[in-house]
Amino acid sequence: MSADQRAAAARRMAAIGATAHYDQRLAPYDVVASHAHVTMLLEQGIVPADAGAALRRGLEELGELLRSGAAPLDPDAEDVHTAIEAYLERRIGPDAGWLGTARARNDLAVTALRLWIRDHVTFLSRKLLALTGALLEQGERHAGTVMPGFSHLQIAQPLTFGHVCLAYAEAFLRDAERLRFVLALQDESPMGSAALAGTGFPVDRAAVARTLGFARPTANSLESVGDRGFALDFLNAGASVALDLSRFGAELVFWSSQPVGLIALPDELVSSSSAMPHKRNPDAAELVRGKSGRVLGNLHALQTVVKGLPLSYFRDLQEDKEPLFDTADTLALSLDAAVSLATLMRPDADAMRTAADVAFGTSGDLADLLTRERRIPFREAHHLVTELVRLAGKQGRSLGELSLEDRRGIDERLAFPEWPDVTVEDSVASRDSRGGTAPARVREAAAELRVRLAESAARLAHEEYIDQELGDTR
Ligand code: ARG
Repeated sequence: MSADQRAAAARRMAAIGATAHYDQRLAPYDVVASHAHVTMLLEQGIVPADAGAALRRGLEELGELLRSGAAPLDPDAEDVHTAIEAYLERRIGPDAGWLGTARARNDLAVTALRLWIRDHVTFLSRKLLALTGALLEQGERHAGTVMPGFSHLQIAQPLTFGHVCLAYAEAFLRDAERLRFVLALQDESPMGSAALAGTGFPVDRAAVARTLGFARPTANSLESVGDRGFALDFLNAGASVALDLSRFGAELVFWSSQPVGLIALPDELVSSSSAMPHKRNPDAAELVRGKSGRVLGNLHALQTVVKGLPLSYFRDLQEDKEPLFDTADTLALSLDAAVSLATLMRPDADAMRTAADVAFGTSGDLADLLTRERRIPFREAHHLVTELVRLAGKQGRSLGELSLEDRRGIDERLAFPEWPDVTVEDSVASRDSRGGTAPARVREAAAELRVRLAESAARLAHEEYIDQELGDTR
């Protein structure tokens, strides 16, 4: 083996193995975890008082530097954790060596990552609530705006635009709840698990857990260092957010396409074609839809890394970071864009009403009415309306224009004088079951959603408080 080969091997090891250039964003979380660890070591008398104090000061100073936007860490270090130890060594000398007592990079890395996830659940939840709020406002404003409702992309029954906006608002508020579940399941501190077997030093794991805002220490040191279930849960919840964003994006692309023309998007969120100047391509909506692909891929990527790994730590596991970072970054971009789309989309009320008012589009409502008010069993009413539609079609008339004699010709029970002409407005107003599309129900649902949104925001304010000591370093 030549010296050249060995030099190349060392370079290649660093190239495949080093992560400090991208995992530096975990630095504030390592600082918080390390600070809690040193404080506990001091209180337990595990490290000398002067060394512990120097370490605490060094970590506090580093935290300040990171908050101020400085980049004091070596990007060529193996990872952020070794970079921080090297930084402390430079700042405070050999006392820095006490930091590694009763811990390993294995429990430190996984603790920092849990703290990062907690902070980003809050970060993304805030955006989900903003999106919910934007849709809720549209829902309130357009509780009475009639539009066609689709199933199979065929015009089905009239809906109110407000009802549709609230449908997405519900989905996004639930996504925020789904992210919260992730926190509930990862509310344990791995610190003190050390490399895999625990430590012989008299540590107080509960105290560290408390300082870091976790409910308790993890139960099993061996499981703690190799478990990435908490990261998969975050990626899974993130994938759910991406799915809902994707559906919302697809909806806007459809609504804004020229032959459909139900909504207009602002110039800032569309592009024109280089070849066809008349076009208004809904780029932002397409990207909100398209970027969901990588978020779904990130979940799959980490599942594949973890699959087949026996217990405890393997270097494979450092592949957890890029999927997590990318999911958070992509969702942040997409949610921000979706907030602008939801806020600035403008329904074309006339086009919506015209599209909703297709020939015989309220025939189902007429059948309902015959059942409700004339006591004709629904199956029979449905059958009679089918015949009425056929006749009206032949005569080129609407259902409301059919003469009493014509109706009698189909069935005696249809020969009553106050024959209704069911409009799309009548149709939506009649669908006033709880959660239905009637304007009154949409207003009621919006008021209830506003209360739940405020509750979620209040909870989030509390969670933000816990994370405030991390500062806004992202
Ligand atoms: N950067 C590594 C990771 O995130 C830290 C753990 C290193 N532990 C080890 N035994 N090499 O997975």
